[in-house]
Amino acid sequence: MVSWLSQMLSRQLTNFPVRRDESERMRRQWLAHAEGLVLEIGFGSGLNLPYYGSNTRELMALDREFDDSPQFRARMRSVRFPVLFVKAGAQKIPLQDHSVDTVVSTWTLCSVGAIPAVLAEVRRVLKPSGKLIFIEHGLCSQKGRGRLRSLQKVWSPIQQKIADGCRVDHDIRAEIEMAGFQLVDVEEGFVPGCRPMAFFTRGIARLDENPR
Ligand SMILES: C[S@@+](CC[C@H](N)C(=O)[O-])C[C@H]1O[C@@H](n2cnc3c(N)ncnc32)[C@H](O)[C@@H]1O
Repeated sequence: MVSWLSQMLSRQLTNFPVRRDESERMRRQWLAHAEGLVLEIGFGSGLNLPYYGSNTRELMALDREFDDSPQFRARMRSVRFPVLFVKAGAQKIPLQDHSVDTVVSTWTLCSVGAIPAVLAEVRRVLKPSGKLIFIEHGLCSQKGRGRLRSLQKVWSPIQQKIADGCRVDHDIRAEIEMAGFQLVDVEEGFVPGCRPMAFFTRGIARLDENPR
């Protein structure tokens, strides 16, 4: 019961701290770049489904838990490509090396726990020409925002407990770069919403040929 409540809260936290039209705008902007065989980690209730474009050939939807709400079933009915559900943790993706064209991670890295382990798996399953599309909230990296960063760090452990592991004290850009990706297109900053949860890093990363 507690875990169900926490999951529900986590999924609501995807929606309510940021204006809905703004999250839809980000999903529309970035998911249009998905192509080929796509793996979405932390698929949740399928909020990204309407935004995949015609270049998406097939979707592997990975999550440790799946939704079965009427809204989810309605989203599934309008999908034009095959969707395969993979029930697994993103730190051990049951796919072969270099088998996926695009990995999508939206509002997911905040709650996976071990981001380096998950991104190492993303690296492993991506083809050398593949891309990672991400929309993630996290620690504000802007200069002069020390007080907000402190607030995020204090609030994060509380949010983690009540919202299925979701934290806002990860430096998303640094995590992606340290995992051996090169950011080829990135936008960073606040979107309209509740400030501690509304600092977003979103864009496209590719495998870095010379990782740190
Ligand atoms: C806040 S929801 C975001 C859902 C969706 N990506 C979106 O944009 O609406 C986070 C999702 O990540 C999933 N998740 C968290 N940790 C995970 C892990 N280690 N492996 C797989 N899925 C995970 C949760 O079950 C949840 O569905």
